[in-house]
Amino acid sequence: MMLITIDGPAGTGKGTVAQAIAKQLNLNYLDSGAIYRVIAYLLLDKDISFDNEVLAIKEIELADLDFSNSEILLNKKNITSDIRTEKIASFASIIATSNIIRESILDKQRRHLKPPGLVAEGRDMGTVVFPEARYKFYLNASVAERAQRRYKQLISKGFDVNITTLEKEISDRDERDQNRSVSPLVPAANSVIIDTTNLSPEEVISLLLTHINK
Ligand code: DC
Repeated sequence: MMLITIDGPAGTGKGTVAQAIAKQLNLNYLDSGAIYRVIAYLLLDKDISFDNEVLAIKEIELADLDFSNSEILLNKKNITSDIRTEKIASFASIIATSNIIRESILDKQRRHLKPPGLVAEGRDMGTVVFPEARYKFYLNASVAERAQRRYKQLISKGFDVNITTLEKEISDRDERDQNRSVSPLVPAANSVIIDTTNLSPEEVISLLLTHINK
């Protein structure tokens, strides 16, 4: 089965690129960050501290999570746009430091690998979840550029955001994602690293396709 992983920090264009590649190659698509965001949403909604890992895991297991369409349903409620806020992103990055939470969703992520294949994007797709992937990419970009992209994306979705706050939130999240002890954000040893700071999404997509078709 064709398996492509795309990892990297927030705002590097992983989502856009991964979805485009999945569409072009007719593969399944996994946005693993959305799983962490949904868990963050669930724990905040139920007022459960992530330190209470046993209760958190129980709630995650009981939750009726539907990712089958482009919409995300949690216990039948459509939370697709609710999980896109920076508050949820930051909390997702905090709960993602928990080893027990990460392990509890490993199988959930791996079950997305179905014929004819998968494009999986996140932080540890090429290192931990799908180490066997044939094609591994790691996207990066400057913090200023990533904050600009996030700013435009969030403004277009109607969120009220401030660019300076956004830069700080992105840097804090980088710091946490890169320095946690479990599955930290690092390029997989055999990944192709691409700096997307001065590239358009189309240019990045084309670069990846060139590597895949080589
Ligand atoms: O990709 P994203 O911005 O939606 O991810 C939100 C947070 O979830 C991110 O800051 C860290 C966590 N995450 C993770 O730890 N591992 C992944 N594979 C994907 C996301």
